[in-house]
Amino acid sequence: MLEEKQIGNIKIIICENKQEVAKTGAEIFAKAIGNNPKIILGLATGGTPVGMYKELIKMNKEAVVDFSQVSSFNLDEYVGLDINHSQSYRYFMNDNLFNHVNIDKNNTYVPDGKPSNIQESCLSYEGKIKAAGGIGLQLLGIGSNGHIAFNEPGSSKETRTREVDLTETTIKDNARFFENEAEVPKKAVTMGIGTILEAKRIVLLATGENKVDALKRSIKGLQIAEVPASFLQAHSDCLFIIDKEASSGLL
Ligand code: F6R
Repeated sequence: MLEEKQIGNIKIIICENKQEVAKTGAEIFAKAIGNNPKIILGLATGGTPVGMYKELIKMNKEAVVDFSQVSSFNLDEYVGLDINHSQSYRYFMNDNLFNHVNIDKNNTYVPDGKPSNIQESCLSYEGKIKAAGGIGLQLLGIGSNGHIAFNEPGSSKETRTREVDLTETTIKDNARFFENEAEVPKKAVTMGIGTILEAKRIVLLATGENKVDALKRSIKGLQIAEVPASFLQAHSDCLFIIDKEASSGLL
């Protein structure tokens, strides 16, 4: 395992490149599943975790990690996208992880982006997490604006699963996954910061220079709603695994 540093309350591992970030993250998840085969995972989408999911698929095929008893809750989903839409987060999770490992899909949860009653659906998602016993290990990425899940700047530490408006920055950042910017949904359902902070353990992955500023402000700045990831400083077991590019000027 690579050297772990600490800034304030946040533990940090700096990797050579994004491949090493993916491997390091996968090793931590595999070990956690090994220690508790019935673990409840919190999972993320976006570009960053794809490499780690590939590593976990490989480890599952090699029988190094067994997902048969694992449950998972995803952080967020776009509002209005059908689960069969290629950019819905349910589709992403099936495509990038669930279809390729021995997880029981009935035990995988992604917020509903097209519910008949969005408030009820958000409450029910929170209820399901609680009923499962809470999240044991939560995976996060970070937005270039410091968001975690889709808790955009201005989100308080107490927020719970709810419908939110996406910011211009997020819509621009995520346009790369769609035909064009106009196709990116303007709203999402996201776990709140309060929901995320209840996870027993949190691992955040970040790579590339686009994340430098958000990481600096999250790790070393004040805990403020303007930088939602800064609230992770309040968690007692939070590890950031980042690459050299993303760590520029941090230490
Ligand atoms: C995704 C999520 C988002 C992403 C963040 C970074 O489920 O919750 O907060 O983690 O937008 O996205 P990428 O990895 O594409 O840079």
